[in-house]
Amino acid sequence: ETELVVIDENNINAEAENAIKRAGEVIRRGGLVAFPTETVYGLGGDALNPESSKKIYAAKGRPSDNPLIVHIADIKDLELITDGVSEAALKLAKAYWPGPLTMIMNKSDKVPLETTGGLGTVAIRMPNNKIALELIKASGGYIAAPSANTSGRPSPTVARYCVEDLGGKIEMIIDGGQVGIGLESTIVDLTSEVPMILRPGYITADMIEKVLGEVTIDKTIIDSSSNLKPKAPGMKYKHYAPKGNLTIVSGPQDKVVEYINGETKKAMEEGKRTGVIGTDSTTSLYKADTVKSLGNREDEKTIAHELFKALREFDDEGIDVMFSESFDDSGIGQAIMNRLLKAAGHNVISL
Ligand code: TXA
Ligand code: MG
Repeated sequence: ETELVVIDENNINAEAENAIKRAGEVIRRGGLVAFPTETVYGLGGDALNPESSKKIYAAKGRPSDNPLIVHIADIKDLELITDGVSEAALKLAKAYWPGPLTMIMNKSDKVPLETTGGLGTVAIRMPNNKIALELIKASGGYIAAPSANTSGRPSPTVARYCVEDLGGKIEMIIDGGQVGIGLESTIVDLTSEVPMILRPGYITADMIEKVLGEVTIDKTIIDSSSNLKPKAPGMKYKHYAPKGNLTIVSGPQDKVVEYINGETKKAMEEGKRTGVIGTDSTTSLYKADTVKSLGNREDEKTIAHELFKALREFDDEGIDVMFSESFDDSGIGQAIMNRLLKAAGHNVISL
């Protein structure tokens, strides 16, 4: 039996405080709690307890070589779990924490290998969500939390999808409403000579460069044809995928519309349910069972916010065949296209 509690992040009253305290106790005792962050919902357990991390892998059906992110609520708490806090880490933390940035550092012995997927490094972030920060404090300071979805499915941006994937498997789910950002945090590895982005997100390469002077990007993020292994173990898996078959179509707008409408027509004739992901100015042009807009094409924050939600909704609606427009690859667009390409299994038609 999974307990569901609803908390308004902007009104954490006595009742909410009480629920967070109880959730903290669940985690201290080795149990699991799904909770909101500003990026996506997380599935939290005690990061310093190897049994908790094993439970997280089991609940998600996640391969145990795919390490978890440790969430903290106080910069001082870096000391216990790392082997020393570098100048670069402090600068980045001051600039972007709490916020959607995860840093990889060398771990101390306090962090069990179960949490880091056997690695000598640990991923750490301080989320920018009041419920999350209070929960971290209530549970002893260190919550290991991957996204709160079944492994491979799109990350949950609302609590309903945590219930769908994890209901009955964990002790508690905190519903804190829809998340603000909608894509997982940027991951930057600070253990390499030049800091390297392993997963693009809301904090862009430019924003990190501004603080550190120099940053590189894991080549496997940019070049999908690369045979190299991604440095973040989780990035090698098919991910964020809806149940139906998704194809990205890029090219001039009129050609994209013509192509997609031809494909949806064929699919519908075969009795399949079809869906299209477009933008505000194009949705009226498509013919399909469901057409969704991710927002204004120029507004990449909204597009990021709506993407996983749209993919999950297609699943809810039983869509078999989906097509999506392609998006600009700069700024937050890099994160958007990274997730969209993975969701589509790199299935792209260029016209
Ligand atoms: O926004 C987020 O980061 C969300 C919320 C809940 O905080 N969490 C999240 O966790 O996205 P997860 O487990 O879905 O993704 C963690 C990623 C994986 O790709 C994993 O391989 C990578 O971080 N990672 C974790 N520890 C690592 C390490 N020591 N070295 C390299 N990559 C690491
Ligand atoms: Mg995930």
